[in-house]
Amino acid sequence: MRAVFASRNRHKAEQVARLLPDVELVLLDEVAPGLELKEPFDTFEENALAKARTVAAHTSMPAIADDSGLEVDALSGAPGVLSARYAGEDATDDDNNRKLVEQLRGVPEDRRTCRYRCAAVLVMPDGRELVAEGTCEGRVVLDGRGNLGFGYDPHVVPEGETRTMGEIPLEEKLRFSHRGRAFRGLAEKMRILETSAQAEHLQVERTRATLDESDVQTGPFRQFELWMREALERESGEPNAMTLATATRDGRPSARMVLLRWFDERGFVFFTNYESRKGRELAENPQAALVLYWGSLQRQVCITGRVARLTTEDSKTYFDSRPRGSRLGAWASHQSQIIGSRAELDERLRALEDRYPDDDIPLPPFWGGFRLVPDTIEFWQGRPNRLHDRLRFTRTEEGWILERLSP
Ligand SMILES: Cc1cc2nc3c(=O)[nH]c(=O)nc-3n(C[C@H](O)[C@H](O)[C@H](O)COP(=O)(O)O)c2cc1C
Repeated sequence: MRAVFASRNRHKAEQVARLLPDVELVLLDEVAPGLELKEPFDTFEENALAKARTVAAHTSMPAIADDSGLEVDALSGAPGVLSARYAGEDATDDDNNRKLVEQLRGVPEDRRTCRYRCAAVLVMPDGRELVAEGTCEGRVVLDGRGNLGFGYDPHVVPEGETRTMGEIPLEEKLRFSHRGRAFRGLAEKMRILETSAQAEHLQVERTRATLDESDVQTGPFRQFELWMREALERESGEPNAMTLATATRDGRPSARMVLLRWFDERGFVFFTNYESRKGRELAENPQAALVLYWGSLQRQVCITGRVARLTTEDSKTYFDSRPRGSRLGAWASHQSQIIGSRAELDERLRALEDRYPDDDIPLPPFWGGFRLVPDTIEFWQGRPNRLHDRLRFTRTEEGWILERLSP
């Protein structure tokens, strides 16, 4: 995808280009040199959306924006959305940092807790919008150190660190920073949007409160994609979260949440520990069910089918794309087994950090993806008086058949 980055901050543009390697980022001045971007709102999300909407409307291109800032608890959340202009409209980083230090002089170090927040957004010219947020907890130090960052970085020490954000090299910082987290979340949502079959050709319909046979003529995967897109736009939190139900060989069920990582006409993919309870149950009984629920849209999708493991190669490709912390976490956790204490887990993680000091972390042999190949996919649309619409696709040798079920 080619998208305009709705900011003139070159530090941010450099970070975002690294965080969204699949996006061809166009600089704002190349396509809209005089365009003024405002941040008039009280939240990072609204400010980022305002900038991206302005750019998308002006250029008719997809627009990516972020808004970020520092919230200091001892200052009741200031400077917050005013971070860039804390010391005045045309304030420089130095002016803002000087003001921050003045405000916090006399506040003991253990009370100078703070967090960086970032909202990253994508706005499409047709009005579709994706939003993802990231935070990074830390504390403010009065003596600024390091010139590897910008903004308040020389004065912010992230949790678990002794160095300031200004002393941590960019590549390392992006793994845990608010901007790194926000844009990885955005990339994940964009990937779900794009990996589905023939995404580009799909006519996006606005949310409707009914579900007709004529709406779903394109088949279950296109219908699922349509609903997933609308959920990504409308639903806060994690619209790709789903309940996965499995059962033992003799039919004792269990259920838990997992994240849908991608889907296409072959099925629905999630990742987990193959030796976890669900992993073991799926090994002895591959029949499973998934349920997705989007409350703001009054919608549910229920899917049944058989699971199969992804190839090691596909699991590795996905594993390698995960942040370092998640990859080490996959090694550290003997998922579903009883553990003596939290400290044991933390100790295991520390040992793994020493064992894999650089980014070369192998795929654990016990971790990977499952694809649920569906036999049935039911779309449920909430309607008044509990007279909901339920349309179920069932796979047959001749293709999918569509039936309406009583609510
Ligand atoms: C929103 C949400 C998403 C989750 N996503 C995953 C996931 O993608 N993979 C996973 O193994 N566990 C995920 N979990 C944790 C599982 O729900 C569960 O605790 C864990 O996998 C162990 O389940 P088991 O003992 O039944 O195998 C998620 C939990 C929540 C609340």
